[in-house]
Amino acid sequence: MRFSLNGKSVSADPAPGQCLRTFLREQGCLGVKKGCDAGDCGACTVWLDGTPFHSCLVPAFRAAGRDITTIEGLERDGELHPVQQAFVDAQAFQCGFCTAGMIMTCATFNEAARRDLPRMLKGNLCRCTGYQSIVDALGGIKSVEEDVAGRVCGASLSSPFAKAIVTGQARYTLDVPPMEKLLHLKVLRSPHPHARIRSIKRDRATAVPGVVAVFTWEDVPRRLYSTATHEDHLVDPDDTYILDNVVRFVGQRVAAVVAETERAAEAACRLLEVDYELLPAVFDAEAAMAPGAPVLHDRSIAFHDNIYVDIHGELGSVAEGFKAADAIHERTYSTSRVQHVHLETHGCLAWRGDDRRLHVRTSSQAPFITKQKLCYLFGLFDRDVHVFTERIGGGFGGKQEMICEDLCVLASLRTGRPVMWEFTREEQFIGATTRHPMKTHVKLGAKRDGTLTAIEVRVVSNTGAYGGHGGETLAAALGSPIAAYRCLNKKADGYAVYTNMVPAGGFRGYGASQTTFAIESALDDLARMLGVSPFEIRRKNKIHETDRIESIWRDPTDVVMGSYGIDQCLDHVEEALASGRGVAKPAGEDWLEGSGVALSMLESGPPTEHRSGAEIRLLAVGSYHLAVGSTEMGNGSTTSHRQLAASVLGTCASRIAIINGDTDRTPYDTGTFASTGTVVAGAAVEKTAVAMRDVLIDFACRKFGWEPADCRLQDDSIVCGSSKVTLGEIHALGASEGDRFEVRRKAYLSPRSVGFNVQGMRVAVHRVTGEIKILQSVHAADIGRLINPMQCRGQIDGAIAMGIGWALYEKMVYDANGAMVNPALRDYRIPTFADLPRSEIYFADTYDSVGPLGAKAQGECAINAVAPAIANAVANATGVRFADLPLAPDRIFEKLGSRHGPPPKGYR
Ligand code: FES
Ligand code: FES
Repeated sequence: MRFSLNGKSVSADPAPGQCLRTFLREQGCLGVKKGCDAGDCGACTVWLDGTPFHSCLVPAFRAAGRDITTIEGLERDGELHPVQQAFVDAQAFQCGFCTAGMIMTCATFNEAARRDLPRMLKGNLCRCTGYQSIVDALGGIKSVEEDVAGRVCGASLSSPFAKAIVTGQARYTLDVPPMEKLLHLKVLRSPHPHARIRSIKRDRATAVPGVVAVFTWEDVPRRLYSTATHEDHLVDPDDTYILDNVVRFVGQRVAAVVAETERAAEAACRLLEVDYELLPAVFDAEAAMAPGAPVLHDRSIAFHDNIYVDIHGELGSVAEGFKAADAIHERTYSTSRVQHVHLETHGCLAWRGDDRRLHVRTSSQAPFITKQKLCYLFGLFDRDVHVFTERIGGGFGGKQEMICEDLCVLASLRTGRPVMWEFTREEQFIGATTRHPMKTHVKLGAKRDGTLTAIEVRVVSNTGAYGGHGGETLAAALGSPIAAYRCLNKKADGYAVYTNMVPAGGFRGYGASQTTFAIESALDDLARMLGVSPFEIRRKNKIHETDRIESIWRDPTDVVMGSYGIDQCLDHVEEALASGRGVAKPAGEDWLEGSGVALSMLESGPPTEHRSGAEIRLLAVGSYHLAVGSTEMGNGSTTSHRQLAASVLGTCASRIAIINGDTDRTPYDTGTFASTGTVVAGAAVEKTAVAMRDVLIDFACRKFGWEPADCRLQDDSIVCGSSKVTLGEIHALGASEGDRFEVRRKAYLSPRSVGFNVQGMRVAVHRVTGEIKILQSVHAADIGRLINPMQCRGQIDGAIAMGIGWALYEKMVYDANGAMVNPALRDYRIPTFADLPRSEIYFADTYDSVGPLGAKAQGECAINAVAPAIANAVANATGVRFADLPLAPDRIFEKLGSRHGPPPKGYR
């Protein structure tokens, strides 16, 4: 068929049944993205005769005779379209995976459409930004600042990939041109929550034309491992096989098929005949702890039947603390199972190169640990494996997991051909990891004035069928949310329990989010009981600057108070909430209004080992090349790393070329998770830049007889009094003597500082329908020095959006057999543009003594206070405590529907 593609006449025929999205990608338009399979996300938006369509919903043959425009065709004569330029100016993206589709939609807006963004943008989802920077872009706001040497750190500089992102040229994991002999991998997943596989018949599957191989548990190395990635492999249980003869959740991988096309692989999966012996299953964590519950793993893995790990500790004596209390509050709070929903699903491509080495291109947040695991599983030498990332379309902890690379590598090694596997959105829900649902019983004792005398917490965490991250998230759950308050008597007991549910894993906030919800809700309930204001009870009990940072353990810790800004955060939020700057509540007495606050504290980085390296080279032209092992998934680390290096080297960020996340080309990095992009990888960059500065000045001093103390780097030269030599000249001089000006340094995460966040919410709750409207959202963060303020604000906007989704809408729903019933974005609802308020965001003025150039971690902590602030505002509005997330309208209606009276006195 013939059609016009980005102004050029094209003749090409789609495959039968092919959608326009896939067809356009085959034509080289890799800016057309796949975020779902069902028209729900908008990442694939293109124009058909000037009108935006979700191309995944359009049969490709309908392109015949039409005029198609993709993001690649939006530029005119080398000039960005005004909307592309606006997205650059406001940096209206983080990972950028949604950006092409978002721009294609926005670029059709007239003035009327711009005034109706909630409706006009309902078909385009963004998981990273909270949409606020997109509003800025459409409002013509320019957030990006100029890149000026000497003023780099603390400036809102643009991402080095901004232009590539808005033009669709940025390459994500599976944006690859057609590859010779490429095979596609698909898996058959278990329909049963617990079963032993007696046999798998593959004859009918292998007879499907195009099928090359089928792999079952009998074909894989019988080696236990954990899919979780941490520097210390011992913190996660080795409880998983690549393919197993026992399935422990609905959605577990049963067999893998590789074929010439995805369609053939899918067809073959459907034709595999599996004989299952069904086993009893258990889904609830407390039921799984009870005597007689079905046991998932043998005793060498779980300590006590299904309890993978239990953690206990006590400081002082809570029994004495409760005796001394004037009031005691106790209640159980629970949080739901939710998914990361990064718009780029998991994906991997593995092949043997001309160099005979194995190359693995993956969406992993931890390519170096992934490489180690692949070497272990397949008995490969380190030198024979290369794992790397391109730009990653969001992660949020979901890609701190090796769940697709193993099968791609297996299939590639066995077939000798390149193998690609891209998760569908449904697989992302049923076969990837989730947040750990936790049930937290909190008991608090206090004096009449609100001074805490005892804190006791019991947490039961549902880790699902496999235990990766189960112990670490539990430790985090029992850590900073309790340490945030000073109290002489603290006790906690925690259990991470195996069940026949999809495995849980790392997720922004990493366990601390769940107990922050419980403890911050309980503290409000206690305050109300005592007639103390929510701000007062927090001010009275919060940790002090000079306190030891300790939760329930006496062991020495490497956590220190590198800076302290919690008072500033509380003041900002209280003042903003008191001012009532938010919109008024809707008219009518059925709308109840209330406000709430919550605080959170989080360590900058995980307690387990974490290390990063960086390398800087001086180039012949006098600029630099920086290599960092951490990955870029929208967290902005490439931008802030360039700023850190440029700041030390006295140059502009644009003079520093950067590569990242590649086991061949960059130094080692444990992985980009637990907010380590700034505090560990960033520290490595700072150290390396300092070393490079010293090397350059020392060289110049040797050459010209200068004193180091009189020299400085300025304008890409070394200046000594009135003398000056350019770095290009230095490079040439060094080259003549064999000096290459290459420096490499490592950073290790210890000690760790702490960051603080305070969230305030004012809400209106409809007491009949259960609807909740957010009237005002205020957030204050103490994240040390802001390396890039615009980027910091974006991270917080995104965390608030994700916290609102968790609090109000998101929930993975399961049937009685443990099968998820809403594994699609239209049924599992993440916040859309219309759902989110514009938050007032404040930053404490602090400079951290630990982090690089005064910065602290920022990516995670902001989410933790959001859900409890909403729950506290709802309790304040209605007089009723909703202790279980999400605060869905049906739950609100159930408790309030019959009430129809004003809230009881004492709640306002
Ligand atoms: S990929 Fe087309 S709407 Fe999601
Ligand atoms: S920037 Fe929108 S999904 Fe990442």
